[in-house]
Amino acid sequence: MSLDAAHGLLACPVCAGALDVEGPAAACGAGHRFDVARQGYLGLLGGPQPAHADTPAMVEARVRVLSSGAFDAVDAALARCAPGARTILDVGGGTGHHLARLLDARADARGVSLDISTAAARRAARAHPRAASVVADAWAGLPVRPHRFDLVTCVFAPRNMAAFARALAPGGQVLVVTPDAGHLASVRERYGLLAIDPDKDVRLQKAASSHFRTVARHRVRESLDADPALVADLIAMGPNAFHGLPGRPAAMHTEVAVSVWVFRSSAPPLP
Ligand SMILES: C[S@@+](CC[C@H](N)C(=O)[O-])C[C@H]1O[C@@H](n2cnc3c(N)ncnc32)[C@H](O)[C@@H]1O
Ligand SMILES: [Zn+2]
Repeated sequence: MSLDAAHGLLACPVCAGALDVEGPAAACGAGHRFDVARQGYLGLLGGPQPAHADTPAMVEARVRVLSSGAFDAVDAALARCAPGARTILDVGGGTGHHLARLLDARADARGVSLDISTAAARRAARAHPRAASVVADAWAGLPVRPHRFDLVTCVFAPRNMAAFARALAPGGQVLVVTPDAGHLASVRERYGLLAIDPDKDVRLQKAASSHFRTVARHRVRESLDADPALVADLIAMGPNAFHGLPGRPAAMHTEVAVSVWVFRSSAPPLP
């Protein structure tokens, strides 16, 4: 059962005590209990998921895009930046795809995929035998034990830098993937997808600077010949899916253009 992968890593979202998973539930020493869903993920949200959470259709579109290999160059870059990580937390982990690829590259590693969407968490629960799947809100403080993770990854997902700093073990690092201006630009322009905020890089570095120093920024560029089905899925996996989708899009040439940011703790190592 993949939740075993989270042994010793999770914290109670109510009292922050250590959370142990046993059979169909997880519990802390103070008696707070949380259900393990039939599909294998642990629900720590403490309420219903918000209306903006990714829907099952969005998640399935993302599964198809990721399994097409369109973002393989991003996974390769993540793996290069994370040598030696044995405990990995993927925040906004979605389908668990990126975490699973990192775990494939590292036989002694295990990880937790955390996402606010139960549809995503269902998928992540079967992404990899050494990946646990948890439903939680990254902005509510992460339900993980402090300083237990060698690596926090955050791919196109919300970045709670203070919580990442608390989750990281001494010497650990954060890898953040953000879209650059050219990312899927032809698809964005043609189908009116949400634009990429030009101030995003400045805001990211500002948010990171209280907790981390920026070690590197690797730019990943990969051209992509997308057939109509892939174009449809690139649109359907994102927030535009909430506003209706085009009928049958055309095949398009586009580009994956992202940055992989490497941040390390700026604080001295813990004693
Ligand atoms: C653009 S998707 C990226 C998913 C995955 N990292 C990937 O690249 O395939 C953003 C993800 O962040 C999740 N998310 C959004 N808000 C969140 C929050 N407050 N806490 C945790 N996850 C969140 C969404 O449900 C979604 O799965
Ligand atoms: Zn508790």
